[in-house]
Order: sequence, then structure tokens, then C-alpha cells
Amino acid sequence: MVKVDSKLVIALDVFDVDFAVDFARKIGREIFAIKINWPLVMVRGSSIISELSRYSRSICDLKIADIPNTNRLIAEKVAENGAWGVISHAFVGSDSLKAVVQAAGDVRVFSVVAMSHPGSADLISSSLENLVKISIEANVYGLIAPGNDLEMLRKVKKMAPGMKILSPGIGAQGGSASHAIANGSDYIIVGRAVYDDPDPLMKAREFNRELSNIYH
Ligand code: XMP
Repeated sequence: MVKVDSKLVIALDVFDVDFAVDFARKIGREIFAIKINWPLVMVRGSSIISELSRYSRSICDLKIADIPNTNRLIAEKVAENGAWGVISHAFVGSDSLKAVVQAAGDVRVFSVVAMSHPGSADLISSSLENLVKISIEANVYGLIAPGNDLEMLRKVKKMAPGMKILSPGIGAQGGSASHAIANGSDYIIVGRAVYDDPDPLMKAREFNRELSNIYH
């Protein structure tokens, strides 16, 4: 079954490369994308991006947050490995974020404007408007906003109505996939609720069903 319209992004925050490749091979065509974070890159190197991109779109969640030159180097390596998207922080400022967008080329840049964990209330949540402004100015493709904070999600959608919103915070962090979509998310990210399940394939398909039921 090929689900070209899936809104599901699976976060593979695992060290087990064999599991990641096998899982991507089995589910890649049914989901929107695989999200790759530091755990896989640390054990396999940047080639894991091209390995997994054989089976699915890949989004590299490296949360890039450095000076423009270092950001450029990281974004170039992501692009060289054929990623579909990359996630960068916006808080480092417009010059740093613009460096990612420029170096990424055709790779879509998503910037973090709000986060899903409780500690985001310490600092980042109060900067939402600035972070969205920096992101719009840098011409990013999309924004990361929490699927477990629907009020915040609606605010982000209102501030940047034309931008794609990718939302973590589903499952293990308490958010609901269908509620996130109903409140402005275009795609939802699920990690532990899938890969920690005794049957990750079945669980991913369950999320896909939940998401497709919104429209049928
Ligand atoms: P879980 O296991 O909680 O994994 O489903 C969520 C995935 O998404 C990442 N994550 C975030 N990324 N802003 C981001 O850019 C966030 O607020 C955020 N919250 C979670 C996390 O690294 C994991 O890969």
C-alpha cells in the first residue's frame, strides 16, 4: 500500500542502524518522511542520511544553532547527502538562519519557533514573535511548532499562515495527532510512541489511519 498523502513523520532517535534501515525499508513508502536526529548521525556519520533517503524523504533534525559559517558547513553536508529537509534553530539570529537557507539549496529548511518540552517556557516561548519574524525574513520553507500545545500552535499558524508547520510532541509528550492537524499542523512527528512499541510498523500504520480518518 502506498500512502502518498501521509502526514506522518517518524523520528528515528535510535542508535541501532540496522533497525533504522530495516524500518525505513518497510514503512518508507507509507509515510511522509523519516526524521533523522543526532543519535543515528553519531553512530553512522552523515551517510545515514543518504542511506535512509533511499526509502523515504528524510528530514535532518540537527537543530543547527551556530555562527553563519558553521551553519553553512552543516547545511552543505546535509544537502550533499540528499536530504529532503533540515531543521535549524531560529534563535541564533537571521544571519545564521539565512546561511542555512542559502547553503541548503533545494533542501527545505524548517526553523524552530516553539518547542514541545516543559522547559521551553523558561525562555523560548516568550520569543515566539521574534522567532517567527526571523524565520519569515530568512525565507524558510516551514516552522516547527508543538503539537502538544494547541494554543501555541494556533498562534504560529496565525502568524505565518502560508508556511508548512511540522509538529512534534505527539504520543510520548502527550499530544494527539488529529488535534494537532486540526489546529494548524501540516505534518506530525512521532518518535517513541512508534519505535518503542513492540510492533513499530503496526503503530506507524495506526497513526496513518488516525490521520487519514480526519479527511474521510
Ligand atoms: P518523541 O519521542 O517525543 O520524539 O515523539 C519527538 C522528536 O521530535 C523532536 N522534538 C522536537 N524538535 N522542536 C523540535 O524541533 C521541538 O519542540 C521538539 N520536540 C521534540 C525530538 O528531538 C524527537 O526527535
